[in-house]
Amino acid sequence: MTPDKFKLAVLVSGRGSNLQAIIDSIEKNELQAEIALVISNVKNAYALERAHKHGLDGLFLDPKSYSDRNGYEQSLVEHIQSKSVNLVCLAGYMRVLGKYFIEAFSDRIINIHPSLLPAFPGLHVQKRALEHGVRFSGCTVHYVNEEVDGGAIISQAVVPIFDNDDEASLSERILEQEHIIYPEAIRLILEDRLTLSGRRVLHNK
Ligand code: GAR
Repeated sequence: MTPDKFKLAVLVSGRGSNLQAIIDSIEKNELQAEIALVISNVKNAYALERAHKHGLDGLFLDPKSYSDRNGYEQSLVEHIQSKSVNLVCLAGYMRVLGKYFIEAFSDRIINIHPSLLPAFPGLHVQKRALEHGVRFSGCTVHYVNEEVDGGAIISQAVVPIFDNDDEASLSERILEQEHIIYPEAIRLILEDRLTLSGRRVLHNK
């Protein structure tokens, strides 16, 4: 009997290029995982179309149809638990998750963020990096806790900022790195290669 594959739930809000990078890694057998569920909080997110094209379960859950955040998060948790998911991956998911959701999947939620955290948490971060004048930016994969973009850092990639960069060109070069480090971070987790030591995430050989 073959063992069950490591199961992912991917939460999205938009274009879904990071979802695509995960799908591609799985299809190339670089990632021994399966995407059990894709959930979007945005109805027409292109990410749902990508899920559909690859025969994955895709679901739009409308936060507005719940009376409060807890109700919405309870529904999210139920859907994800019903698929016995091992890891929840936020991939351009633009809603802040609260205590209820985070406690339901303690240390099993990760996010990709387009800056070198702890610099530039939050929104419009490529623009803010340019305006601030930093010479390097990049991207970060981190565990999700209740502090926005504040959880322990799993991996990062550095992207230099050029004098002729604008928000679009910088975002594009950062995104290329996101597509490399996100599937790689998922692989480290499914191979049980990471140890949390306080805020540090140690990478075991
Ligand atoms: C990516 O750049 C991701 O890092 C960012 O949104 C974009 C989603 O692109 N996420 C955040 O800013 C989360 N705070 P995608 O939908 O093509 O993957």
